[in-house]
Amino acid sequence: MLVRLLYVSQPVGPITTTMTTLILEKSDTYNKKENITGVLCQGSGLWLQVLEGERAQVNLLYSRIMADKNHRNVELLSMEEISHRRFGKWSMALVYLSKDDPMVQMAHPEFDPYKASAKDAFFILDELLKTGTPILNTAS
Ligand SMILES: Cc1cc2nc3c(=O)[nH]c(=O)nc-3n(C[C@H](O)[C@H](O)[C@H](O)COP(=O)(O)O)c2cc1C
Repeated sequence: MLVRLLYVSQPVGPITTTMTTLILEKSDTYNKKENITGVLCQGSGLWLQVLEGERAQVNLLYSRIMADKNHRNVELLSMEEISHRRFGKWSMALVYLSKDDPMVQMAHPEFDPYKASAKDAFFILDELLKTGTPILNTAS
């Protein structure tokens, strides 16, 4: 059974390039092995991540991520059964979120994932993937 999970969290300190590189490297090996795909969105003091895959694998990775000391206030926004993947091309794509981004401003001037519906958060993620310059860790 496939599921899609979305959560938001706050990095404990500034997000460094080293940190991002490490996450992408982990995703490149671990997520590929566990057949997990998704997107990580970072910026404006937030991480927003989607994990897609078999339910057991997604649960396991999510619990590992939750225990990660690099962030806090990890809040589950959505967990749903799906028939197909929406972010299936990437073991983990990386996009940058800036609340000053005109697209984000236009769509949601007060965008705050802790308050927004999961639907709105997915909308922003889709837009960032379409219009931004994502860094792509391909799934195959
Ligand atoms: C925001 C965030 C997203 C992460 N995403 C992933 C991920 O998609 N895949 C993964 O394997 N690790 C991810 N990590 C890293 C894990 O939390 C954890 O550090 C790692 O799985 C530990 O691996 P190790 O026990 O082999 O050192 C993420 C960490 C953070 C802070």
